[in-house]
Amino acid sequence: MAHIEVRDVSLIYDTPSGTVPGVKDVSFSIEPSEFLCIVGPSGCGKSTLLNMLAGFLHPAQGEIRIGGKPITGHGTDRGVVFQDFAQLFPWRTALGNVAFGLEMKGIGKIEREEIAREQLRLVKLEKFTQSYPHHLSGGMQQRVAIARALAYNPSVLLMDEPFAALDALTRDDMQRLLADVWRETRKTVIYVTHNVAEAVYLADRVIVMTPHPGTVKVDIKITLPRPRDPLSVEFLDYQKQLLQHLGQHTAANGKSHV
Ligand SMILES: Nc1ncnc2c1ncn2[C@@H]1O[C@H](COP(=O)(O)OP(=O)(O)OP(=O)(O)O)[C@@H](O)[C@H]1O
Ligand SMILES: [Mg+2]
Repeated sequence: MAHIEVRDVSLIYDTPSGTVPGVKDVSFSIEPSEFLCIVGPSGCGKSTLLNMLAGFLHPAQGEIRIGGKPITGHGTDRGVVFQDFAQLFPWRTALGNVAFGLEMKGIGKIEREEIAREQLRLVKLEKFTQSYPHHLSGGMQQRVAIARALAYNPSVLLMDEPFAALDALTRDDMQRLLADVWRETRKTVIYVTHNVAEAVYLADRVIVMTPHPGTVKVDIKITLPRPRDPLSVEFLDYQKQLLQHLGQHTAANGKSHV
């Protein structure tokens, strides 16, 4: 059975000036431990889709099932990481941020700190457990956010352009780190990005969405062995293929953005 099933999902936003479609008739499924990237033009509905998967928004039509059960709201079976560095609590240390959800769940101090330390080790921040967010770089803050999302041991990790605000070198490091975290944890990952090179580097499959109101245009399997070489001919071919589907006919150069 597929881990996640998205069936004919549409969402409409109600605004003071009328209704605005978010996404239209989106369908796809994801197998357990699969890494799926979603790319598409700005405003096509990628964040809308991710927010529905997280249970923060509800489809107007269609259904999303996780492990065979319809989503009814947010649950600890899904961890979420956003682009915004401000997603961390500034008054809590890295350890305090990662332990927060576990504290809310009533897990005792010793156990929750042990779990939080383990998650921070996974994202290579074991030396920064006592640092506050404003003392950490953007990349480190995003690593804390990943550790926090993993602390509940969710089966699904939902990520909305988590590295988009980072400089190119840090982003490359973070992509390598995420590939390692995924190999170690085997979570099912849904990852939204504007960057086709990032999608080819990380994903088992890439869904390209149409412009607003977005639906699935094409679903492409990336069969390259890992770790992937962004300079290989095959890697650049995949990039080119994705850019063509996005209607961007520029030559793929490893840094192409939508
Ligand atoms: N809260 C909202 N109220 C009304 N319309 C919204 C709201 N959020 C998003 N929309 C509209 O829904 C559509 C999809 O937005 P969404 O943020 O999901 O796109 P996106 O693909 O994530 O874009 P980006 O790549 O720029 O992040 C857009 O046309 C947007 O204007
Ligand atoms: Mg978005």
